[in-house]
Amino acid sequence: MANIVVVGAQWGDEGKGKVIDILAKDFDYIARYQGGNNAGHTVVIGSEKFILHLIPSGILHERKICVIGNGVVIDPKALTEEINKLESKNIKVKGRLFVSENAHIIFPYHRVIDELKELKKGKSKIGTTKKGIGPCHADKVSRSGIRIIDFLNDKIFYEKLKANIEEKNKILKILYDFEGFSFNKIYEDYLNLRVGIKDFICDTALLLNKAIEKRKRILFEGAQGTMLDVDYGTYPFVTSSNATAGGVSTGTGIGPTRLDKILGVVKAYTTRVGEGPFPTEFSRDMMQKIRVRGDEFGATTGRPRRCGWFDASLVKHAIMVNGISEIVVTKLDVLDELKRIKICVGYRYKNKLYEQFTSDTEIFTNCEPVYEEVDGWVEDTTGVTSFRKLPRNAKEYLKKIQKILKTKIVLISVGSKRKQTIIVE
Ligand code: GDP
Ligand code: IMO
Ligand code: MG
Repeated sequence: MANIVVVGAQWGDEGKGKVIDILAKDFDYIARYQGGNNAGHTVVIGSEKFILHLIPSGILHERKICVIGNGVVIDPKALTEEINKLESKNIKVKGRLFVSENAHIIFPYHRVIDELKELKKGKSKIGTTKKGIGPCHADKVSRSGIRIIDFLNDKIFYEKLKANIEEKNKILKILYDFEGFSFNKIYEDYLNLRVGIKDFICDTALLLNKAIEKRKRILFEGAQGTMLDVDYGTYPFVTSSNATAGGVSTGTGIGPTRLDKILGVVKAYTTRVGEGPFPTEFSRDMMQKIRVRGDEFGATTGRPRRCGWFDASLVKHAIMVNGISEIVVTKLDVLDELKRIKICVGYRYKNKLYEQFTSDTEIFTNCEPVYEEVDGWVEDTTGVTSFRKLPRNAKEYLKKIQKILKTKIVLISVGSKRKQTIIVE
């Protein structure tokens, strides 16, 4: 298989970073197609833990080329900090990272609008990462956004930034009584940031298509997850981009015919950060137990993640809208101590049974999950290196999931380290 997409099949944080790190050695290019520095992808190498936000996790493999595609929204300050942090750890970024000239830029007013909008929403807030992702996408779609290519042109950048700040200041004053931004300050700050990032910028669609012509292999790294996708997720409690596989083509300029396989990543249970419906969410005691055992705290914001049972009905939806043909199950070890384990196989609402996720907010918020229960294995799996050696009930749990999803599990993760990975023959 030449070009593979790794996509989150739940609400993000499925362990995509680890999976990319495991797969990257067999690819030439690793490309991000959407999201921004709202993402937090963790890779553990030996005793060192790396958290990547904007730069593809493949950067940790020497000699691999990494691409940030046009579908990603870029905060130049965050990008600069991430580059510097990696370089300070002796990871060479210059010459290996290429950033799309068509990507849109996040400005301080995007972050402030993100925050103020959330504050105003009060109890009905989304629980965003406050990185300015939504407002930046809003500007992109309303055709007032500033792309990196505009940023590189003195005249265009000056004019566009001026127009944007004038408009934002008026809106912010009326809606939030916010005092407004100084054009000069932002302009100067961004000109300084430009110096640091300009050498990374190119036409990445051309770069990647030329690579394909030369029979190079590309691994596409998804951020967030299917249920946070702006079209297929739990709208409005979603992010502002297409995290699903469809986002690869629009977010990198690689046509759908060039994609050979979509690999879905799921945790052996479910988590979500931020607000929004979550039918299989645990009650307090279980929540605490799994959160601690799974170290379920956001890699970007540090917020505690909400945890719940594996929701097969949700993952079925993800398999459908992404065209997932194979699954990776991570964090199996987190369930090691449980005597009984539940799998959600549908939702009941007003005596009607729904077999799959429904985008009807009323139903999805108020439904009761329908569970099948299995025995746990109550045994440590963190040292297991083959499927055969997994405890019998762990194998049964995985086989049951595979059967419900009608999709093959090809990789299992039993810890954050590279060696804690089981390839299913
Ligand atoms: P991503 O956003 O999908 O890349 O996932 P995150 O990095 O935000 O969250 C996944 C977390 O789980 C990270 O802290 C990983 O180090 C950790 N992790 C990944 N796989 C496993 C696993 O199999 N077992 C355990 N216990 N932790 C894992
Ligand atoms: P990775 O790539 C989990 C969530 C936020 C919030 C919603 C909207 O690490 O899986 P945004 O700032 O994007 O406007 O927030 O999306 N969210 C994530 N949750 N993992 C992520 O990324 C996320 N990125 C955004 O918590 O609910
Ligand atoms: Mg994450």
